Parts: sequence; C-alpha cells; structure tokens
Amino acid sequence: MTPWMRRLHKWVGLIIALQFVAWTGSGLLMSLLDHDTVQGHDHQARHEHASRAWPTGMLPPTQVVAAAAKPVQIIEAFWLQDRPVYRLTHKADAWLADASNGRAVQVDAATAAAVAAADYVGEGAPGKPEWMKAADLEVRGHEGAIWRVPFQDGDATTLYVSAQDGRILERRNDSWRVFDFVWMLHIMDYTGRQDFNNPLVIMAASGGLWIALSGFWLLVTSFRLSEFVPPRWRRARELAVFDPDGTRLRSVESHTGDSVYLALARNGLQLPSNCGGGQSCGLCEVRVRGPAPAPTSADRAHLSESRLKMGYRLACNLAVDGDSEIEVAGGAGLWTERTAKVERITAITPFLREIVLAADIPPGAEFQPGVYLQVHVPGYTMQRHDIDHPEHHRDDWAALDLPGTLASKEPVRRSYSLALPVEKAGGHLTLLARFSPGRQDKKRHPTGKGSTYLYSLKPGDTVRFSGPFGDFALKPGGREKIFIGGGAGMAPLRAMVHSLLDNGATERIHFWYGARNPREAPYVDEMAELAQRHANFTWHLVLSEEAEYAAGLVKGLVHEATHEGLLRDHADIHACEFYLCGPPAMLSATRQLLARLGVDDDRVAFDDFKI
Ligand SMILES: Cc1cc2nc3c(=O)[nH]c(=O)nc-3n(C[C@H](O)[C@H](O)[C@H](O)COP(=O)(O)OP(=O)(O)OC[C@H]3O[C@@H](n4cnc5c(N)ncnc54)[C@H](O)[C@@H]3O)c2cc1C
Ligand code: FES
Repeated sequence: MTPWMRRLHKWVGLIIALQFVAWTGSGLLMSLLDHDTVQGHDHQARHEHASRAWPTGMLPPTQVVAAAAKPVQIIEAFWLQDRPVYRLTHKADAWLADASNGRAVQVDAATAAAVAAADYVGEGAPGKPEWMKAADLEVRGHEGAIWRVPFQDGDATTLYVSAQDGRILERRNDSWRVFDFVWMLHIMDYTGRQDFNNPLVIMAASGGLWIALSGFWLLVTSFRLSEFVPPRWRRARELAVFDPDGTRLRSVESHTGDSVYLALARNGLQLPSNCGGGQSCGLCEVRVRGPAPAPTSADRAHLSESRLKMGYRLACNLAVDGDSEIEVAGGAGLWTERTAKVERITAITPFLREIVLAADIPPGAEFQPGVYLQVHVPGYTMQRHDIDHPEHHRDDWAALDLPGTLASKEPVRRSYSLALPVEKAGGHLTLLARFSPGRQDKKRHPTGKGSTYLYSLKPGDTVRFSGPFGDFALKPGGREKIFIGGGAGMAPLRAMVHSLLDNGATERIHFWYGARNPREAPYVDEMAELAQRHANFTWHLVLSEEAEYAAGLVKGLVHEATHEGLLRDHADIHACEFYLCGPPAMLSATRQLLARLGVDDDRVAFDDFKI
C-alpha cells in the first residue's frame, strides 16, 4: 500500500498545498488586524443614551397600525435625528411613520447624510450620499434600498444607511476590505463571501485531513522498528559477500535491521553510490542469494523487472533480517582504496576531457572494458580559473558564465567508466569525463561536484578511487554487435570496441554514436580510422543539429538513425547483441525501440549514467 499512498500523498499535497498557504496566510492576517478597526469602531461616535422623554400628544401606536396600508408585525418608537417616529415592519419590509401625524417619513439624501454624520467621529468630511437600489458585497445580507455615505478620511470609511428606516447598517473601511478579501480566501466562497459550508471548502478540508493522516502513516512506515534500538542491542548477523562468479569474498558482522549498505559501510566496505545511501542513484545494487524480499518502490524505480526477478535490490533499502548472502559485481573493489597519479589530460571536445591515470598498484584483469571506478572527490573550494582549457575552447567556456568560486563542502564519490582497455593504454586507466556546468540563470544550479573536481586536476596530482565495479561487459561468443551511444556514453563503448578489434574479433561490429554537432563528438577521426582498418567494423556519427553533412554523417536522433540505417532491414536482428550507453532520454528511447522490435532483454546490455 505504501508506494501508491506515497504517490497519492504527493499529488494531493500538490493540489492542497496552495490552499494550505491561503488558509495559514489569511488566518495570520486576520489575527493581526485589530478587531475594533475592522468593525469601524475607531470612527464611531459614542452617544450617551440618556433617555429622552417621548413628547406628549403623539399618536398612540394602535392608531398608527390601524391606519397602515399594509399588515404590521412590529411597531417600535424611536428618534430619527430629532424627529419622533414609529418604525413599522412586516417580514423584510420596513417603513417609518411620523409619530405626531402618522404620515410616511422618507429617508432622503439629506437625512441619510445627517444620520451618517451623527454616527461618525474623525477628520473626514462626508461625501455626497449615493443611492443603492439593493445591497452590494460591502453591505451584503441587508434588504431594500440603501444610502452609501463615503467619508474622506485615511481609512476610506463608508457608512451605509437604510433608505427604509434610516438606521446605520454597516461601517466599512480599508481594514475591513482587506479582512473581507482574506476571509473570502479562507472560506473559499469566492462569490458571496459568507457561505462557510460551500462544497469547495469541504473538499479542501477533507483533502487536508487526508494529507495529514497519510503523512502520519508514511512517517510511521518509513521507520523500521529496529532503527529505534541501538545496534549493540540488536541480534548480530553474518553478512557474506560473494563475487558474481560464486567466490566467497568476505563476511562481515551486521545487526538485524541494518541496511546492507550501512552494514557494509560500518565494516569499511563502501558500495558504489552517488547519493550516499539516499535511494536515488541506483548504484548500490546487490543480488540477494536465496529468497529476496519483495521489491520496494525504490527498487522498482531503479532496477529493471528482469533484474528484480533475478534478486537484485538496492542495498541502501535492503534490511538485514537474518544471516544473509549477497553478490556484488566487482565486490573485490569494496575494500580497495587506491591512489593514482594524473599522467595526462586532453580536452577531446570543449566539455569531454580524457584523464589518464597511473595507478599505484598496476590494474589487474578485473579492469575490463565496461567497468567503472568510483572516484573519491574531496571537499574543495577553487577559483574558476583553476580549470584550464585550451585556447580553441575559450568561447565555449566563456558562454557558460561560471561563478568565480566553485565549491563542494562534503566529500562525495562519482563513477567514471574506463574509456580504453588498460592494455591498450599502456597499463594506465583512461577516463572520459563530461563537464556538468549546472545553470547560472535564475534557477541557479551549482556545477557538478565530481566533474568540476576532475576538470581541476593537473598532471602529477593524486586521485583516490575504489573499484572497479559494474557488470556492463562484453558477452562471450561471436554474435554480431551493435553499439549505440551518446555523450559520455562514448567511454565504455569505445573501450569495448577497441578491446574487440584488438583481440581479433571477426563478427560484424557497428557503432552508432549521437551528438548535437561535430564539435561535441569525441574520437571521430579515431573511429573513422578503425573503420578503415577493420572491414568488420562500421562507424556512424549521427548529428541532431543542423550541420554540414559530409560523407558518413547522418542527421537525426541516434536511435532513429540506427533503426533506419540498420535495424529495419536487418536480416536477423534477434541474433545480434546490443550495447547501449548515453543520456537517459536516448537510453530509454533506444530500449523502447528494441523492445518494439522484439529484441530479448538478455540481448541488450546497457549502462545508465543518469546524466
Ligand atoms: C555506472 C556509471 C558510470 C559513469 N561513467 C561516466 C563516465 O565515464 N564519464 C562521465 O562523464 N560520467 C560518467 N558517469 C556519471 C558521473 O558518475 C556523474 O554522475 C557525472 O559526472 C555528474 O556528476 P557531478 O558530480 O559532476 O554532478 P552532480 O554534482 O552529481 O550534479 C549532477 C547534475 O545536477 C545538477 N545539479 C546540481 N545541484 C542541483 C540542484 N540543486 N538542482 C538541480 N540540478 C542540480 C548539476 O549541475 C549537474 O548537472 C557515470 C555514472 C554511472 C552511474
Ligand atoms: S546508494 Fe544510491 S541508491 Fe543506494
């Protein structure tokens, strides 16, 4: 129930949130406004109601009622200014009769102005009374014709006098008008401003109550009971780590209720992670040996259905509930923290940089094409000019308009794939890093923490890393291979292509790579040269922006171009293997295309950089 509850909570919350702001904001404002000022008491004259003797010789009420042309329910005696009158009412209808002779008394403009002036104290002079046939919003709820008497004071005081019986109906001013507007927002009656039981407010209040209850539920379910118990009081469990080939690598002590990620970290084994255990990067996947718990919404967000079926789960969301066994691709790298010296840095394109590292311990056989290293990025503060770039990229960098100081407070880890087989790189580790510039416009996003660090490196600097990790790898067997990539996805695909060709692969190998324009496409000459030297290798550069289309260049999106140029008329697409790596949108469009073409999941290997 929790995943859909979380989704519903989010979306209902989004709708209700605005009204929550309106409720609290208007409630606050109403409580800040002074009640007497809002009610107009500041400008109301205080009359000493010393009883005034009713003059003798007035008509008795019974005679006035008897002479009335309409039925009368109530008759009251009162003073209209200095004139003794009777007020007669029947239902909502009211009228005045002179107490001395029984004649009807009209409340004209002069009378209304006098009544209003007698009720008012302050510096404002009364304006000309305006006749209103019926009540408007300011005097809502009153029947019959009304005189509106404005006063020219700082509060824009307005008195409303009944044109039927000369009583003051309402005292309004600017404080009241503000109060009335926020009151409308508060009760959500946007027309009449007085119906507290309207369907809109009932719906919003019910939604608000539901948000509070579901939020409470989600809070409770996001805790595991064991989290309230210190680890030393929880039962000790054995957590065994295996390599995917079945080799038992190591066992560590953990406690019931720990997440696997935390249990390994407590023992100094840091799983790959870009999010520090926050369930958002999807890098900490492990395979549970034996029955795996039901996948959670976080597992489903990051792992494919087939991997979930195979028992893969996110370690930061996988609780230890007994002695357990897990497999980690590149598990041996968990307890290696190595250092390397920066050998060489080459700007391949304005924002793709090749970084060649000489590791302190020569890399072993586990550094295969497709694996990635976790680079340990220290906290830093650097100046914009600490990032060098060649002269011919100056305009590209100037257009980024980076801030003067670039900083990352906390150490983080970031993943970077090998971009060349180790043997081909003379035993060195070659990375291809894309710069994440962030945004310098109104929606300021800082530059990428890891890529900024990599771009500040100079030859001779020391880099710390762990790994290699990952199970993106060439499959054994000589099936026809189709590589489709874009952006920094060039890195592992390039390493794989080189490895195949250097090792004498004879199957057909196709590499389709998408870039926006030729300036952003890395290793174009190198790939063209490989295609010339190896008859079984073809290379296609697909450009999505307008460009000069020289021979060999294709226009469009890389997945569509691969479909048009190769897959649509391929004689046996089901016999091919696919290797994909690139930006998330490209990756997902290509995977959807292959699914549509009926290519089996296990023929498609991909690495999602999530950038
Ligand atoms: C298995 C794997 C292999 C990889 N291999 C490579 C590789 O070979 N080459 C390569 O270049 N990359 C690779 N990556 C990606 C790499 O690990 C990093 O994710 C990438 O370099 C960006 O990291 P960063 O620290 O520079 O940016 P981050 O600091 O992680 O930020 C990421 C992006 O979000 C933006 N951002 C930051 N803060 C905010 C905010 N508040 N709101 C909105 N946006 C924000 C940043 O500007 C940046 O564009 C790989 C990733 C994986 C998972
Ligand atoms: S550590 Fe990032 S999802 Fe687990």
